[in-house]
Amino acid sequence: MKKRLMVGMSGASGAPIAVELLKQLQKEESVETHLIVTRGAELTLQQETELSLEDVKALADVAYENDNIGARPASGSFQMEGMVIVPCSMKTAAGIVSGYSDTLLLRAADVMLKERRRLVLVARESPFSTIHLRNLYELSQLGGIVMPPMLTYYNHPESLEDCTRYTVQRILRQFGLNTDAYEWEGL
Ligand SMILES: Cc1cc2nc3c(=O)[nH]c(=O)nc-3n(C[C@H](O)[C@H](O)[C@H](O)COP(=O)(O)O)c2cc1C
Repeated sequence: MKKRLMVGMSGASGAPIAVELLKQLQKEESVETHLIVTRGAELTLQQETELSLEDVKALADVAYENDNIGARPASGSFQMEGMVIVPCSMKTAAGIVSGYSDTLLLRAADVMLKERRRLVLVARESPFSTIHLRNLYELSQLGGIVMPPMLTYYNHPESLEDCTRYTVQRILRQFGLNTDAYEWEGL
């Protein structure tokens, strides 16, 4: 059976990172992607890319409506390898940390934590407020992996697309995928 990976997109800046991730995951034959897009993410997608919501949904194997709280990812009995929320808004982070699972994306993340599955949060805001930092700290304490899409220079990126690809490689590594990507070789 293929590994099921949940991809949640919420309304922080960074929709192109999610798009690139979905494209890379299409190349992974062992992985089945399950996608949830929030209303906020629809807006950032519109602002930050030329793609429609339908274009993005077509990159996933299965796409769900965020208000369908009865869909399969709402249950721990639905076997999932893990979940990445990319980008993860501060509102979504707050929803997860408080266990306020009133949408499918929040419920799916809640399931990851209760089932002790991998939950990667590509959290994006700048600057972070103390509330944001407290929520992200607590999510880390709860087992979530908080990985903001930080810039790196040591890999000599030549474009924003390079930065996006590198961030996606780091995300894939969290799930043991694309391990032949750039690796620091030491000084
Ligand atoms: C163009 C745009 C960029 C945004 N960027 C961010 C961001 O980087 N981080 C963040 O936490 N919220 C950001 N927001 C605000 C969120 O979209 C908003 O709080 C929304 O309610 C999040 O809902 P969601 O998490 O359900 O998608 C942005 C909104 C827009 C329209």
